[in-house]
Amino acid sequence: MSSDNPEVLISEADIRRRVDELAAQISADYAGKEPLVLIGVLKGSFIFLADLSRRLNIPRTIEFIAVSSYEQGSVQSGAVRLVMDVRGNIEDKHVLIVEDIVDTGHTLHYLIGMLRSHRPASVRTCALLHKAERAEVDVHIDYVGFNIADEWVVGYGLDYAEQNRTLPYIGVVHPEN
Ligand code: IMP
Ligand code: MG
Repeated sequence: MSSDNPEVLISEADIRRRVDELAAQISADYAGKEPLVLIGVLKGSFIFLADLSRRLNIPRTIEFIAVSSYEQGSVQSGAVRLVMDVRGNIEDKHVLIVEDIVDTGHTLHYLIGMLRSHRPASVRTCALLHKAERAEVDVHIDYVGFNIADEWVVGYGLDYAEQNRTLPYIGVVHPEN
């Protein structure tokens, strides 16, 4: 069920503080390693990517990729499907995949393999949220915003059946399936 006022799990202020920390860490780690390409995974990462990318103090470019892994609401459809590939050439560039959330890990695992085939200089991963207890594949996340429990979360880009993406905080909804 989508709700107008989902219960707050992570406040706007806490998100802002953590995104600042991640940006500082990424800026330090990639200093002198340009060019850095941030690859946002649509649609869920669009707000996180916008905030994170503006707080970096190193040169960076932005690409988007789109995948589909869930059909309706929170019901899993199975395999990961590539809906839109990167447009720019990422060969010999440092790539940072920016995800909203890592749940089973299938999406990120697929994306790492797919992007490596473009022969970038390196591939690292950043996710605002991680549901560690749901992991089905072993996938390394270099930068994690928050570890969360197995609950369906919305806001700050994340949706439930396309609802609540523009909520300014991370909230919890309780799908009835
Ligand atoms: P994974 O392949 O199971 O790791 O799923 C990753 C994708 O599922 C994420 O990028 C989200 O788009 C979606 N997803 C997983 N859990 C949630 C959630 O709690 N809220 C919103 N989207 C989610
Ligand atoms: Mg996603």
